[in-house]
Amino acid sequence: MTIKAPRGTVDLLPENTSKWQYVEETIRQICRRFNYKEIRTPLFEHTELFQRGVGDTTDIVQKEMYTFDDRGGRSLTLRPEGTAPVVRAYVQNKLYGEPIQPSKLYYFGQMFRYERPQQGRMRQLHQFGIEVLGSADPAVDAEVIDLAMSCYEELGLTSLKLVINSLGDQESRSDYRQALIHHFKPHVDDLCNDCQIRLEDNPMRILDCKKDKDHPAMQTAPSILDYLNEASRTYFENVKACLDVMGIAYEVDPNLVRGLDYYNHTAFEIMSEADGFGAITTLAGGGRYNGLVEDLGGPETPSIGFAMGLERLMMALEAENKTIQLDEQLECLVIAVGETADQAAMKLVHELRRAGIQTDKDYLGRKMKAQFKTANRVNAMYVVILGEDELQNESATVKNMTTGEQVDVSLAEITDYLKKCVGGKHHEN
Ligand code: HAM
Repeated sequence: MTIKAPRGTVDLLPENTSKWQYVEETIRQICRRFNYKEIRTPLFEHTELFQRGVGDTTDIVQKEMYTFDDRGGRSLTLRPEGTAPVVRAYVQNKLYGEPIQPSKLYYFGQMFRYERPQQGRMRQLHQFGIEVLGSADPAVDAEVIDLAMSCYEELGLTSLKLVINSLGDQESRSDYRQALIHHFKPHVDDLCNDCQIRLEDNPMRILDCKKDKDHPAMQTAPSILDYLNEASRTYFENVKACLDVMGIAYEVDPNLVRGLDYYNHTAFEIMSEADGFGAITTLAGGGRYNGLVEDLGGPETPSIGFAMGLERLMMALEAENKTIQLDEQLECLVIAVGETADQAAMKLVHELRRAGIQTDKDYLGRKMKAQFKTANRVNAMYVVILGEDELQNESATVKNMTTGEQVDVSLAEITDYLKKCVGGKHHEN
């Protein structure tokens, strides 16, 4: 029996990885423009980090984590998300003491969630995310949203919807919690099993339930916006004003609660509205988490961030027919005819590569005609032909594959010659 990749995981093959690299490079450039620096944290962490960080009552912690004991008996978990690890790294490495504040960080990487796999829902997923730690300025909330929208828009997506909400501060949230318990308690027997437990543990999550979404009590549930205290309301107004100044369109949805426990104040999601995108439309989600750094042992540090799923981004590009066309070329293919020539080709390929020219050669002992076929297949810009005759003259024939023009160049000068030929392309990059 052949072995297949585990359920909920996929292989990214070279045809796709070039597209992913293009997307990642576009996003990295945006991060550079917004002045964010990359952080890389481990793929696994102590289980307790997510229990405390993401929250014991969340779906992620209750049923989706890949948790195992290592050989030393420690409970470790493959990271299901990136925020708690970044905060852990921020506290552990005392980034709050760095002279440049706030800390503006970004990351790419695999996350792991034991979910029921379907279109757009993987067990190993890739996220790009950012975290800004150390500022309570509503303009930062707007910057974070602006960065997220920039990624999608610069890659060509247009059918996007930005939804925002405020979950308020601790006081507003706990008043709202009481109001929700009061509201849903009389209907508890009609709710699904999960929501019956959520009523006490995490009543806000009831608003997000797919099973109970049509229950009449959902329509009449109190709105968080009516429970925001003065400070929370002002904060939310200021965030909206910043978005307005930048001309970023949004909808306010008081039912947007997010599935992780650390949020307060601003919460947001970006959806795809493209036809045929599928049932799961959320491309990215994020929000403020002003208490998390303290909860994980650091100083009081207001923070905000978001993460986007890269698989879902790829799906959205496809749904909007924004296929990434990469005209991949090979700068130089060296074709050797004969055994001595093959040795000389190896030497030349080595030299050209050291000189920065993207070069390849045949490794299957193909005839010259077949090697020219390869040259077309790999879109070679220049072909260098090394035959016995050429070698006797210490030269090679260089063919420009665009114009068909052929010139003899001495081996002593060929590296410089080709460098000049492809130089223009290097400058463009
Ligand atoms: P999240 O909403 O759990 O937030 O995930 C963010 C994004 O990751 C989702 O919108 C989706 O695009 C993608 N995603 C999540 N689960 C899956 C899955 N099973 N398969 C495919 N894609 C998935 C967070 O992870 C927070 N850490 C975001 C954040 C950063 N909040 C503040 N800072």
